[in-house]
Amino acid sequence: MSSSVKEKIEQLRSVIRYHDRKYYVENNPEISDYEYDRLLKELQNLEKAHPELITPDSPTQRIADHPISQFPAVEHKIPMLSIDNTYSSGELKEFDQRIKRMADIASDTDIEYVVELKIDGVAITLWYENGLFIRGATRGDGFRGDDVTANLKTIRQIPLKLPVLDAPYKVPPAMEIRGEIYLPNKEFRQINEEREEKGEIQFANPRNAAAGSLKLLDPRITAQRHLKMFAYVIGYVEGTKPESHMQCLDFIKVMGFPVNPHAKLCRNIDEAIRYCSEWDKRRGTLDYMVDGMVIKTNSLALHEQLGSTSKAPRWMISFKFQPEQAITKIEEIVVQVGKTGTLTPVANLTPVLLAGTTVSRASLHNFDEVKRKDVRVGDYVVVQKAGEIIPQVVKVVQEKRSGHEKVFAEPHCCPVCKGPVSREGEEVYLRCYNPLCKAQAKRRIQYFTSRDAMDIEGFGPALIEQLVDKGIIEDYSDIFSLRYEDLVNLERMGEKSSSNLIRAIENSRGRDIDRLICALGIHNVGQHTAEVLSEHFDALDKLAEATVDDLEKIHEIGPVVAQSIVDFFRSKHTREIIRKLHEKGVNTRKLIKDIPQKNKKISGKSFVITGKLQKYSRSDAEKLIKRLGGRVSSGVSKKTNYLVAGEDPGSKLDKAKEFGVEILTEEGFDLLTA
Ligand code: IVH
Repeated sequence: MSSSVKEKIEQLRSVIRYHDRKYYVENNPEISDYEYDRLLKELQNLEKAHPELITPDSPTQRIADHPISQFPAVEHKIPMLSIDNTYSSGELKEFDQRIKRMADIASDTDIEYVVELKIDGVAITLWYENGLFIRGATRGDGFRGDDVTANLKTIRQIPLKLPVLDAPYKVPPAMEIRGEIYLPNKEFRQINEEREEKGEIQFANPRNAAAGSLKLLDPRITAQRHLKMFAYVIGYVEGTKPESHMQCLDFIKVMGFPVNPHAKLCRNIDEAIRYCSEWDKRRGTLDYMVDGMVIKTNSLALHEQLGSTSKAPRWMISFKFQPEQAITKIEEIVVQVGKTGTLTPVANLTPVLLAGTTVSRASLHNFDEVKRKDVRVGDYVVVQKAGEIIPQVVKVVQEKRSGHEKVFAEPHCCPVCKGPVSREGEEVYLRCYNPLCKAQAKRRIQYFTSRDAMDIEGFGPALIEQLVDKGIIEDYSDIFSLRYEDLVNLERMGEKSSSNLIRAIENSRGRDIDRLICALGIHNVGQHTAEVLSEHFDALDKLAEATVDDLEKIHEIGPVVAQSIVDFFRSKHTREIIRKLHEKGVNTRKLIKDIPQKNKKISGKSFVITGKLQKYSRSDAEKLIKRLGGRVSSGVSKKTNYLVAGEDPGSKLDKAKEFGVEILTEEGFDLLTA
């Protein structure tokens, strides 16, 4: 009995694997979703009845049902290097000549190149033994990355078990496949829309969203992000490798990994250059971001012969694209009011497709910029996106002027409260100084509740809009008087979201003083300055009484910031808000836990941080080091004790190696500070 169940389970798994590949890798499904779900359900039921037969490579085991506590560090078998960049066809020709010189090939002989899209995502490596997926990791510092296996398993394009291959192919006993994890543009837009709804900070671009999703501690959330992958090289392999890169790509594909379909074998560098410029024009048609092309010599013998520098292989190079641009018309220029009253001109555009998204707005930054670029309503303009969400207006297309364009007049009053506006001193920004302006109040409330400030989840822009317009709250101190009854009948609010929000507000009352100082929205005072201030003032009232002189004595606080702080607290409106915060029991004192507890391993040691850390913001990491008695400097020297290297470390990493400074990964840093 049991052996026939086992057979049935194995058979179901292999049928599901086959259909996973058809659907997710080859985009060519053979059965309906309904039929697929039925197969999966049948397997789940059998496994439920026979849990002893569950194996980690079963298609039911892709999504762990619990969060993980950390990403262990993994040493790469072969370092994960980067790629040298070029920006012109001239440099590509030089690359071709350089290779010929190094490999002793006559300068007029053709070298074959494989030209691929350069996917703008996150590099990863996948380790397989005897056809089973064992482990996957990020690039990290190139030598050690993070083990993100649990999250990679949620990506259905990544096979958990490789198929048995027809001759002449054979799955190697051990091998490493490298590739790029990316987020399709459509998924990226959807995630950002959801985040905006929830009042969360949006991802700047699909790459950041992919990196963030891969580093979530809960694989169930990663699974909802629908990450994808393209495999592009075989790293380490036991046994023989094919003879050419093109054959490697074929082999990777035969094993069931997704390989980008646009890789092309070019006979020589001229053909490679033509293919690059072809894609430079076509990249907007793709559903994912590419930031250039990668040109690889096809012969693997040549790879061996050329080898690598400490940074990058000599047999490949990338051709980076210039930011993508489009031409469209300015239909209207509107003025937005920010949280400190700053007025920003924004162009409403005739919608145009740019870098995979439809663009209908662009920031014009400030009124001087509008004048300098002579941007008029009705003008055709060049807009550009260089990997960020908000496109920029680069310049006016003068040839398209008809003479009917209208010069945009700088506003004399606030577009929302109609109060007076002016510029102070040398400032480029026009400002509305009315503390009761509703537009400002909304922005301030949004900022107050944001993750870097008081971190109150559930305060989206749509909710704030309603609360202020209906007069339920006037400023952020009123948040703490909100009752369930005020929320539950508002649009897009229900019983659950209302009670969650009330709980989130309650929880935020006890936040530490640096968050509160940041949340107040003082002009020129961001997260970092707020932390600096909280180290010198252990109560909000003491900060409110500080003079410009007192403030300027603090290292890192200059005269402009000092004056902004004093002006802020001098305002009657601010005093009233602070009185209300006190009255409503919001913590305005420094919490005890912030008083330094020295840690022997850290006390007196000097640290430098480079690259992007996942768990900590730069300032959180610095704060932690200082709290434990260490020092943080910006440059590596012989006196540096530790370099904390995050993702994409800069030249500091090389310098640290040169000086023999101990290098810590984020996990190493965690261990040291624990
Ligand atoms: S080959 C030595 N091929 O670009 C690195 N990389 O800017 C071997 N990338 O770290 C990588 N598309 O993450 C290769 N078709 C492609 C690629 C690609 C994107 C990434 C990769 C690399 C980064 C360098």
